[in-house]
Formats: sequence, C-alpha cells, structure tokens
Amino acid sequence: MVASQYILAIESSCDDSSASVLCDGVVRSNVISSQAFHAQWGGVIPELASRAHLENVPIVVRAALEEAGCKMSEITAIACTTKPGLLGALLVGSNYAKGLALRAGLPCVPVNHIEGHLYSAFLESEQIRFPFVALIVSGGHTSLFLVESFNSYRILGSTRDDAAGEAFDKAAKLLGLGYPGGASIDRRSQPEHRDFVHFPRALINDPSYEFSFSGIKTAVRNYVQQHHKDELDDLTRNKICSSIQEAIVDVLVQKTVRAAVEFKVQDIVIAGGVSANSRLRALMTEQCATGGLHFVAPRMSYSLDNAAMIGFVAHQKIRELGPSAFRSIDFEVNSKAMRMHRHGSANHASAQ
Ligand code: KG4
Ligand code: ZN
Repeated sequence: MVASQYILAIESSCDDSSASVLCDGVVRSNVISSQAFHAQWGGVIPELASRAHLENVPIVVRAALEEAGCKMSEITAIACTTKPGLLGALLVGSNYAKGLALRAGLPCVPVNHIEGHLYSAFLESEQIRFPFVALIVSGGHTSLFLVESFNSYRILGSTRDDAAGEAFDKAAKLLGLGYPGGASIDRRSQPEHRDFVHFPRALINDPSYEFSFSGIKTAVRNYVQQHHKDELDDLTRNKICSSIQEAIVDVLVQKTVRAAVEFKVQDIVIAGGVSANSRLRALMTEQCATGGLHFVAPRMSYSLDNAAMIGFVAHQKIRELGPSAFRSIDFEVNSKAMRMHRHGSANHASAQ
C-alpha cells in the first residue's frame, strides 16, 4: 500500500496569511488570518502586509497542524506560493516554508497563486470536466482561462487596466463607502435599480476576451458631479451601486459564457474575491442554466486567497513529477502576474 501524502501549504501573496494541511489531496484544515487593518488606509500597504505575515504565518501553521490533528513529523511535503503577489509578502511565506522543509528534510513545492485559484473548484467538486473555462476575478486580477488539464492551461484574456475588484473599490470610494468596496456595493444593490444609470460596459462586444474596467470609475465620478454635486442621499447611493454592479457583472458573465460556447466546454468555474458577489453568482447560474452549462463557484474559504488551493496544486505536481523533483529550495519569488502575448490569441502556460 502507498503511504499517505501529507502536505503543509502556506499562502502569503497579499493580505491573507493562510496555512493548510491536505492528506492525499483532501483538505484537513484551512486556516486563514486576514489583515483587516489595511481598511483604514483604503488599500493594502505592502510593507505592513509583510510585517503582519511575519507574525501570522507561524501562528496559522501551528493552527493548521492542530486543526488537522497532524504532527509536523507526519508531514511529507511543504508547499508555498511564489508568484504573483507582493514581493515582501511572498518572501515571508516562502522563506518560512523553505526553513520548515530544510529542517525536516522535506520536498518544497513552489506554487503559482493563479494556478491555485484555477484548480480551487476541485476542492469543492470532483465533477468538473477538462477542458473548462475559469474566471479569476479579484482586487488584483481579472482573467479568463481555458484549463485543459492539471498541467496545461491557456490564458484567453485579462484586463487591460483595472481589475474588476479594483473597479468596485474605486467606485465605492467615490461614493464615500469603506474599503474593500465590493461587498458594500453588493449589500446596497437592489434588482429594481440595476438600470438607474447605464454605466459603460467596455469591450463587451469586442471579440477578444480582454476586459477594461477603468472607465467605470470615471463614469461614476462624472455622473455624481453632474447630478448630485451637493449631496448624495442614501437611496441614490444605493441606486448607483446597483447600476455599477450590473455593469461590471454584465461584462464578466457575457465574456465568460461566450468563451465556454466558443471553446465548447461544459463547465465554468469562478474564483477570487469578486466571486463572492451575489449578482455575479446569480447571473452566472441563470446564464449557465440557459446554455446547458455546469457552473461551479467554490465556497468562499476556497475562493478567497487560501492555502488549501496551494496545497492542492502541490499535490497534483507531486503526483505528476514525484517528490524528488522538489528537493531543491533554490527557487525565487516573482511579483509579476501572467500576461497574454499581445500579438497571439493566447499563450500556453505550463503548470511547472
Ligand atoms: O481575492 P481577494 O480577497 O484579494 C485580492 O484582491 O487578491 O479580493 C478582494 C477583492 C476586493 O476588490 C473586494 O472589493 C472584492 O474582492 N469583493 C467583492 C465582494 N467581496 C469582495 N466584490 C464584489 N462583490 C462582493 N461581494
Ligand atoms: Zn488571489
């Protein structure tokens, strides 16, 4: 009988410190510590994020082992996020992981954060069939992927400017709502006010799978200056929120469903902070039902930044390449996100 594989994974790419234990790819614990204090600055402050990770990573690691009922001596591999993300934050988590691996003589698997999101739906459901279309949508990312297997995927398109979450946050700030703004806009939105203002839906009819959300912020600013220069009452604010949400969600859903039809896939997966949006989930469910597509949105603890998804990717890599492929800790972190080649339709990326 093959011995069980216990992976201890660490995620620290932005403002969440997370650790998770997986046994043969099944989550035993997934502890997330969020740095809520950034809200007072209206955004994540990289230096403060790194310092908080220094404190929090050892705490979440201990908690994840304890919750999984697992001793460090039972762990067979370590995994950590190495890109993309905030450089300092990535360094803290990955160096901690390297230290654990060195001390225990374990393999250490570097994992791309976006791959974590791409395969996170498998933590929720095994019923996903390759190839599938994945929409990764957060404060830092808005990209559509065609995922062909556990080690092959193509980026179909990304945002040219602001990520969808960034657009929610900037629009919320203009309306005097707190950070992060996506959840406040979601809470204030009501179906009857979706068409109160028709905000731009940039590139919605463009044949590419690129997005552009920076125009929303300008359109909201112009609208408020023109129509509500003196004071913005709460009802009007709610109506504007409903219209902003509808404009962003409309583009995300239309492009994602179009990609699924064009590439003849049966499954659509969403992940990232914006996938918490109630209208996005509802409209995607509705459109997928109409088109005979299967829609999977992992529970929020797997959809927000978390270490379970990092551990899952590491599990797949070890299955494919064997643990000895990850004996070296001579790997680096990289802050940069994947980009589509401008001239080509899409680039192939390998999971290695
Ligand atoms: O994945 P995440 O926690 O962090 C990264 O950006 O990597 O995503 C945070 C983003 C923020 O922009 C926030 O406004 C957005 O997710 N968000 C939402 C909702 N909840 C969080 N956007 C729309 N509707 C929501 N309910
Ligand atoms: Zn993320």
